[in-house]
Amino acid sequence: MAKSPKIQYVCSECGASYPKWAGQCADCGAWNSLQEQLPKAASAGGRFAGYAGDSPEAQIRRLSEVSAASAPRTRTGLSELDRVLGGGMVLGSVTLIGGDPGIGKSTLLIQAMALLASQMPALYVSGEESAEQISLRARRLGLQGEHLQLLTETCVERIIALAQRHQPKVLVLDSIQTFYTEALQSAPGSVAQVRESAARLVRFAKQTGTSLFLVGHVTKEGALAGPRVLEHMVDTVLYFEGESGSQFRLVRAIKNRFGAVNELGVFAMTDKGLREVSNPSAIFLSRHEQLVAGSAVLVTREGTRPLLVEVQALVDQSPLGNPRRVALGLEQNRLSMLLAVMHRHGGVGMFDQDVFINVVGGVRVTEPAADLSVLLAILSSFRDRPLPKELVTFGEIGLAGEVRPVPNGQDRLREAAKHGFQRAIVPQANAPKKPIAGLEVIAVRRIGEAIEAV
Ligand code: TYD
Ligand code: MG
Repeated sequence: MAKSPKIQYVCSECGASYPKWAGQCADCGAWNSLQEQLPKAASAGGRFAGYAGDSPEAQIRRLSEVSAASAPRTRTGLSELDRVLGGGMVLGSVTLIGGDPGIGKSTLLIQAMALLASQMPALYVSGEESAEQISLRARRLGLQGEHLQLLTETCVERIIALAQRHQPKVLVLDSIQTFYTEALQSAPGSVAQVRESAARLVRFAKQTGTSLFLVGHVTKEGALAGPRVLEHMVDTVLYFEGESGSQFRLVRAIKNRFGAVNELGVFAMTDKGLREVSNPSAIFLSRHEQLVAGSAVLVTREGTRPLLVEVQALVDQSPLGNPRRVALGLEQNRLSMLLAVMHRHGGVGMFDQDVFINVVGGVRVTEPAADLSVLLAILSSFRDRPLPKELVTFGEIGLAGEVRPVPNGQDRLREAAKHGFQRAIVPQANAPKKPIAGLEVIAVRRIGEAIEAV
């Protein structure tokens, strides 16, 4: 029997290593910082820092000499998934799909795999559900499971041995927190196990050119044992967003070596599984029967696609000495800043008012282009006067009260026109050179002009 490599315990703070675990690092005094680790030579993680290390004679080449054949892609058949992946699955790539438990990760992958399996050998490994459960689900989803191979197993070494024998071109592992490698003694789901198991699987995938999907639950201590610890070793990271109460599921690319980041795929969870929503703008607009105060429509941009979303604001007399500022789907600090700018440069103060902001549909808007819409929604609620009908806005607001241009203004305006909007308030520099049919564009330089325009 081969002697198992000796396990070390390494302090995550200072890097000191010990043969035994202890609650405190004797070197730097940090508590609970010792983590199980394999000695460098035995660990898959130690050597795969650059994949070139895998080939026996690594060599230095000129960048221009490296043949740049574009990565071959395969369409999964789910167009929204293909979109977040950057136009299809890149053969041999490693993708991490994270999200809260029950949000639809397994559903998405079993649907994609059933479609892919007709094009190439595919293997779905589950450490969570029994084969019967998976088959039951697939039948309920109306999937053809003829070609898809199934395995329920949690030991990484055995999975790799089986995969070597069956040579799938696509491999799904659901979820990484349930797998363990025999090289470590700690329980599945611990940081060391998650990291080492993933490292071994990624190494296998890169050596054999297998496309790999790793599923990771975002745990309560998300940053620690969750999928975050794997982000650096995979090519693409997708996260499920959205409220679990809502029917819509958003899949966002956080990192993508083969495509745009922040690309957003939109699905609806139905009793027949996840359905693609190809015109997502429609779901983020509530289209009120009557005009209501405190609602503004924003054209944001998620990845490469402009998206219309509704920003809602509620401004109300505060009973508290310290009025509340609550932002859902937007940055809290940004809201405070906008209120300050509105006071200094717009002449409207809200010191005794609670301000609540929400983006409809559970979408998270991170770009500053939302500033102008947020500001107008707040003002509309404060004055209790609805914004004009069929109006869209976007624009970044600076501390000096100026309205700054945002990228891809033309795209955004065209999207608005496509959805029947008739007026747009936009930064001066985003005003189109050629008029857009059916859309009246009001270009503004300062927030005062924007307030006046509405
Ligand atoms: P699942 O894919 O098991 O979540 P995860 O793998 O991310 O933990 O999704 C489970 C949820 O989706 C569950 O709450 C039930 C719901 N669901 C439907 O509404 N319709 C369906 O057809 C399926 C398969 C699941
Ligand atoms: Mg699952």
